[in-house]
Amino acid sequence: MNMTNVKQPFIERHIIMTPGPVEVHPNVLKAMQSPIIGQFDEKFLSLMDETMEMTREIFQTKNHWAYPIVGTARAGIEALLSATLEPGDKAYVPIFGRFGHLIAEIAKRTKANVHTSEIPLGEVYSFETLKKEIDASNPKVVAIVHGESSTGMMQPLKALGKYCQKQGIILIVDAVATIGGTDFKMDEWGIDGAITGSQKCLAAPAGMALISYNKKIESIINAREKYDQGLDPNSINDRMISSNYLDLSQLQAYWSPKRLNHHTEATSMLYAVHEALRLTLEEGLDKSIKRHTLNMNALSEGLKAMGLHAFGDKTNHLPTIKCFYIPKGIDSVAFRQKLVNDYHIEIAPGFGPLKDNVWRIGALGYSSRKQNVLILLNAIESLLLYYGASINTGKAFLAANKVYKK
Ligand SMILES: Cc1ncc(COP(=O)(O)O)c(C=O)c1O
Repeated sequence: MNMTNVKQPFIERHIIMTPGPVEVHPNVLKAMQSPIIGQFDEKFLSLMDETMEMTREIFQTKNHWAYPIVGTARAGIEALLSATLEPGDKAYVPIFGRFGHLIAEIAKRTKANVHTSEIPLGEVYSFETLKKEIDASNPKVVAIVHGESSTGMMQPLKALGKYCQKQGIILIVDAVATIGGTDFKMDEWGIDGAITGSQKCLAAPAGMALISYNKKIESIINAREKYDQGLDPNSINDRMISSNYLDLSQLQAYWSPKRLNHHTEATSMLYAVHEALRLTLEEGLDKSIKRHTLNMNALSEGLKAMGLHAFGDKTNHLPTIKCFYIPKGIDSVAFRQKLVNDYHIEIAPGFGPLKDNVWRIGALGYSSRKQNVLILLNAIESLLLYYGASINTGKAFLAANKVYKK
């Protein structure tokens, strides 16, 4: 390769108002610059212990097991599903968007017998529908998305959790788009296993999935325990988890006083997650949640005042990500590209059938700031005018400010 043409990348400051990744908090970036130390160094081990303690707090759980695993959020989903599902086990996955399909896809690869249901995009499930499907399919595991970032919808979980608890069914929840940005009461809602990602409301880069699970799931993992032959030649288990990398029996041994030497820890990512959790708890989980709601409300009111319409069932919108119909006559790709070129602001396109109909706009983590909301509203208004859309002008900024004044 001719190296004279290969330059060190220079990325200018970006405002990311997508469902993630989001802007990384400057203190998280600073933490990532710390020198690498060995993964069994005393200092590193205390960072691990503190990370577990802080993870419990943001999942609102007393579970012992609460720790990050290397990989993006789907690694956490895959780890929990491949730990709890064995070939032939019955699972039920209710789908209301792209990430429900992802859960079903991952569950099927465990060779479980997976029952799915689907409802129209923009809706969430009623408890009655979920109960009917559960009663008919009699699953060992129900796995569902809390915040469906592809549609901007938030699934109520409390009644489902209580019912699964009563029936002895394991409930696993993808809380990737919600933890830290809206209430997620793992224990109170009866959730057995949950996952979030480092790159959403925690404002760290993508690369770590944070998970928590209770004793019910731990007992399945323990029964399937199998260590690498190179570490323990006597470790044999016919029920071993099919993935080695995402084997929670070995990962929990790494995150226990055993400190099993499973993988080489992603040191800088652990620094990032530790600092991201610390910042969230320093702000206060409640305050972080309120900030997400406030900024999303201001953004929504501003876009509504401009004449844009939100997609989907208004009573169950996510407070972190919302979909808005693209105004008539606007070329979505050209618009988003100009937003990046002229303002360095990113918003996201819709997925699948929603691709040409909606924009997915997020205000998560460090991106969830008043300054970002106001800049985005002004940028969208000016570019919609530039492309000749028929919108209400001069109203968005005032509508958003009204929300902030309240
Ligand atoms: C709700 C939800 N679940 C799962 C994922 C998958 O996460 P990752 O891309 O970090 O693997 C995403 C990513 O956007 C998501 O929004």
